Amino acid sequence: MSALDDCYNVFDLRDAAKRKLPKAMFEFVDRSTEDEVALRNNRAAFEKIKLRHRSLVDVSGRSTKTTLFGKEIAAPMAIAPTGAAGLCWYEGELELAKAAAKMKIPFTLATGAMTSMEKIAKEANFRLWFQLYVWKQRELSYQLIERAKNNGFEALIVTTDTIVSPNREYNARNGLQLPFTPTVRFTMDIMQKPGWFLNVLMKYLTTIGMPRNENYPEPYRRNIGADPFRQEVMRQDSLNWDDVKIFRDKWPGILMLKGINRVDDALKAVSAGVDGIVVSNHGGRNMDSAAATIDMLPEIAEAVGDKITVLLDSGIRRGSDIVKAVARGAKCVLTGRATLYGTAVGGEAGALKAINIIRTEMDKTMAYTGCNRVDEITTDIFFADRETNRMAAS
Ligand SMILES: Cc1cc2nc3c(=O)[nH]c(=O)nc-3n(C[C@H](O)[C@H](O)[C@H](O)COP(=O)(O)O)c2cc1C
Repeated sequence: MSALDDCYNVFDLRDAAKRKLPKAMFEFVDRSTEDEVALRNNRAAFEKIKLRHRSLVDVSGRSTKTTLFGKEIAAPMAIAPTGAAGLCWYEGELELAKAAAKMKIPFTLATGAMTSMEKIAKEANFRLWFQLYVWKQRELSYQLIERAKNNGFEALIVTTDTIVSPNREYNARNGLQLPFTPTVRFTMDIMQKPGWFLNVLMKYLTTIGMPRNENYPEPYRRNIGADPFRQEVMRQDSLNWDDVKIFRDKWPGILMLKGINRVDDALKAVSAGVDGIVVSNHGGRNMDSAAATIDMLPEIAEAVGDKITVLLDSGIRRGSDIVKAVARGAKCVLTGRATLYGTAVGGEAGALKAINIIRTEMDKTMAYTGCNRVDEITTDIFFADRETNRMAAS
């Protein structure tokens, strides 16, 4: 019996991932920053939204399919960039990308991934997006943009909310600090998870050596133990709207900004000529006082939703969360941890399971709320009580 057989929802996958991964790795994926208020708040904001089911509607022909940037996808769902997939499973990014391709949803490859964009483009080519962290030396970022273009990536997503390195104190406690030097604690931690040691770390060590950030520009493509921030390789604190204009000039495909969480920034994104924004607080991993994205979404979607494509992430764990986000104006959501847990438990099969679970839950929520098509999901489904749902109804 595989560990996946016992998983019926994303929270089960999380528990199974916890059993598989070394503590340092699991916490890196699962936790957020400082007091983890933003992480909890992201979930609480979804959970407090209540829906009204609709009776006696024939929903036997319903579908979760939708159109995003002019092309059909199986559900309003895409995979968020997560630099850690390759440490959850050997070449985890590739496993995740293959699952996304099979399920006909877009996949985003992170700058910090351990699998190269060339390999992903060759082996898992459905709709590929590349997430860009920006180097202080801008020329290096431009090289990456060129590389993504040459590999046929459909979209470039520039992450805008990781201005400085966040306070993830548990990483320091777990010995997962950069530059990496193995501590006794870390070594003990790994020894307690021999499955991960053999099937992930040893597979790298016996093939390519220590995993490397394969998408970094050549001079910096060293192993993941090196510290990009410390060495000033990647510096996000000078990133500004002039950069966005340059990215726009250099990138002919779909350009998105990820990490927008206020209306004025969304309006500036429109002026900068981007095609889409991802309303995101990085899954609560950066600023711990960040507002929940699902709370910010209605005003942002109202301001720019008819001009650019609005996507959302941070806190998606259930298919009903997608329905809520779509009703509040998102064309699509991105999943970070939810699909990463699946990957950690079962590689491609685990990622497929996570996507399937969420898509099926979405389908059921559509059925309960009387929606046959994604474009029928509107604010009409919300229960607007005075306490909790004022924003939903507006
Ligand atoms: C382990 C991990 C690594 C991440 N790495 C990146 C990254 O390299 N670039 C990026 O833009 N976002 C990164 N993110 C943020 C995700 O893209 C996404 O915004 C977030 O996970 C959404 O929240 P959720 O995990 O609640 O779905 C990462 C998230 C996690 C959990």
